[in-house]
Amino acid sequence: MAYLDNAATSQKPLPVLDAMERFWREQNANVHRGVHYLSQVATSEYEAAREAVQRFLNAPTLQEIVFTKGCTESINLVANGLSSSGGKSGTRGSSNAWIGEGDEILVSTMEHHSNIVPWQIAAEKTGASVKPIPVTDECQIDLDTYSKLLQSGRVKVVGIVHVSNAIGTVNPVKEMTRLAHEAGALVLIDGAQSAPHLLIDVQDLDADFYVLSGHKLYGPTGIGVLYGRKTLLEQMPAYQSGGDMIRTVSFSKGTTYADLPAKFEAGTPSIAGAIGLGKAIDYLENLGNNSSPSHLRHSLKSTFDQIEHQEADLERYGAARLSEIPGLKLYGPRNGKAAILSFTLESAHAHDVGTILDMDGVAVRTGHHCCMPLMERLGVAATTRASLSFYNTRDEIDRLVVSVRKVQEMFSR
Ligand code: ALA
Repeated sequence: MAYLDNAATSQKPLPVLDAMERFWREQNANVHRGVHYLSQVATSEYEAAREAVQRFLNAPTLQEIVFTKGCTESINLVANGLSSSGGKSGTRGSSNAWIGEGDEILVSTMEHHSNIVPWQIAAEKTGASVKPIPVTDECQIDLDTYSKLLQSGRVKVVGIVHVSNAIGTVNPVKEMTRLAHEAGALVLIDGAQSAPHLLIDVQDLDADFYVLSGHKLYGPTGIGVLYGRKTLLEQMPAYQSGGDMIRTVSFSKGTTYADLPAKFEAGTPSIAGAIGLGKAIDYLENLGNNSSPSHLRHSLKSTFDQIEHQEADLERYGAARLSEIPGLKLYGPRNGKAAILSFTLESAHAHDVGTILDMDGVAVRTGHHCCMPLMERLGVAATTRASLSFYNTRDEIDRLVVSVRKVQEMFSR
């Protein structure tokens, strides 16, 4: 099979599978709860994964790394926190949410539904409104209109995808964050599709929140990350409640919450998931070279230089070969995009394309890619999307092209 559906989920390297199997076979115990040996091993493996994520994002502190189920849960956590009482000063019971009536939340037209709907719910709850940042005909964020929208003086939050899952646009999130901060707004960067392909530095981006999903970063499903600026996470109310997120519980004196990041990790977490994600990060660090632990960031940079180089080559090759097919239209910016080949065929619906490609052993995603507002902007109901990873080859792209040509010929008869 030519697996070209990496934006949906990536394949997993052997060290990730081995680490997870080792956990289940030899280390399985709950974390943060036991004095016994196995629980201590599990806890130390789980916390080592948090350290790996901190290194990966270059986050200032470990307390700013919260494990979640994935990007979706991370965004829901933030949207809920900023729209709830205590979202500003941390004092529960007062109506001092960060987002209030008449405020505005900006999200781009190319967002995944998971970076739109949680904000719509936050807006409904508070009387705020969600405003779309338009996308140009070149499939880029319309930065002039974005700057104008920020001038209303009412924008409290900007939610922006770093790399579009549907068309591969790489957004200027650092510049957008700077502009948002000048306007007094917080910024959440959706890194679902950037973390697997670009070197991320949350301090350089000056992100307030950055979210990623483990399974797109060569790790397992069911684990994700919320990076949040410490001062903000401290002020935000807890998202879910239960075990491990409390300091004390009393019927007479009330409940007090644990420090970060435990405050946001109620219940038994995905321990094997975190360990798998940590191992995926180790794997990326080791791909660069085998330098000593003090040079891990340097090694990670070298890995991502190679990933970017390989993926850019595959993208250029694929775009050139697909463009030769009559009736095929590619979406997304011409240059500087991520390795996503999103296209329509004049003669066939995307689902027919995907089904026939599958019969040829080529796996792609078809549909709206959870980006209905973007599809509306592009004037299409669906596209066929081949999303590439560094482990793909030109040979696999040739198989895609041969199969798409076959569909085109079948449906033009
Ligand atoms: N958001 C993932 C994708 O783009 C699932 O396919």
